[in-house]
Amino acid sequence: MLKDPYIKDILICVLVGVTVVIIYLTSEYKPDHLYGPANKKSNATASSLPEPKWEDPGPYHVAYPRKYRFVMDNSPTCKTATPFLILMVPVAPANLEGRDTIRRTWGGKKMVLGRLVETVFIVGLPGGVDANQQQARLKQESERYRDLIQSNFQDSYRNLTIKTMVMLEWLAQHCAKASFMIKIDSDMLLHVDNLVALLLDPETPKENYMSGLVWWHSPVSRNPFNKFYMPSHVIAEPVYPPYPLGMAYVMSLDLPKKILSVSPHIKPINIEDAYLGLCLNRLGVSPTNPPDQRMFQVIPRHPLSRCNLSKVIATTTTSIKTHLVQSP
Ligand SMILES: *[C@@H]1O[C@H](CO)[C@@H](O)[C@H](O)[C@H]1NC(C)=O
Ligand SMILES: *[C@@H]1O[C@H](CO)[C@@H](O)[C@H](O)[C@H]1NC(C)=O
Ligand SMILES: *[C@@H]1O[C@H](CO)[C@@H](O)[C@H](O)[C@H]1NC(C)=O
Repeated sequence: MLKDPYIKDILICVLVGVTVVIIYLTSEYKPDHLYGPANKKSNATASSLPEPKWEDPGPYHVAYPRKYRFVMDNSPTCKTATPFLILMVPVAPANLEGRDTIRRTWGGKKMVLGRLVETVFIVGLPGGVDANQQQARLKQESERYRDLIQSNFQDSYRNLTIKTMVMLEWLAQHCAKASFMIKIDSDMLLHVDNLVALLLDPETPKENYMSGLVWWHSPVSRNPFNKFYMPSHVIAEPVYPPYPLGMAYVMSLDLPKKILSVSPHIKPINIEDAYLGLCLNRLGVSPTNPPDQRMFQVIPRHPLSRCNLSKVIATTTTSIKTHLVQSP
């Protein structure tokens, strides 16, 4: 049938026409792809929107204009070697005792199950009447241990979300080749061997992975006397999207960049772990439950029971001094 040159010409014309229409249609979506997140699995609509201009933070938000910079950063982590796991410890500038305890205990072990593990403490600017002295002491400490990074926002409990976000900026900038990080509070007990074993497990995802003690249906507090009160004009939904509790959460290191790509479109609230949940939700990434519920504990009911400690990865401590001795 196609031997007739006339029909052949018509077919070629139709084919060319259809191709041109297809190219035109696909090119219409190109601007979106250009601004879309790097990960194909993530929610592409999220970061293609123009960035809103947030008003002043007010009581339930934090000032995170993404313009803070690191004023102290001589840590060799991710610069001279690529660790498997980074222990990121947000800590108050004045809490030298907490940092020293961690250096002597769970933060002091460099090789765990044959993998490189490094600890980085993250602080903001000290406040109060002795801020200058505190800053001078921090500088000395940083020169001595080279495990301290400091960003130029005002360090305070209400600014924890800023600390987390600048931590993610630092990781995205320096540690994209490392495998995992755990963000862990300075008053926690961490069993690094159990954590590395979990992360080496073939069942553990290597991407889009965030785990810890996951709050799957955390209600938004409407009680004005609650520390975590959130009025409905800030968060209209009755529950937060799922997120691992802020005391200790693990993340694969592809996530910092992805979270930062959506965060400009979600006004930062002062509850740092719930805020990460909002970002994850926008990315279309779900947190993962640990394979054993004893791995992350808020209140260890039997803190000294050998059986339970054999599984624990992170737990709160009633007193950092008495329980840290249990760490191997
Ligand atoms: C949080 O940090 C910003 C930037 O340094 C500062 O302006 C603000 O006062 C801080 N807020 C609190 C409650 O410390
Ligand atoms: C993408 O994000 C929008 C806005 O948050 C949401 O409505 C939608 O369900 C998300 N889509 C996916 C596939 O996660
Ligand atoms: C282990 O902890 C759980 C609660 O987390 C408790 O119910 C159980 O009795 C503990 N087991 C032992 C042997 O202490």
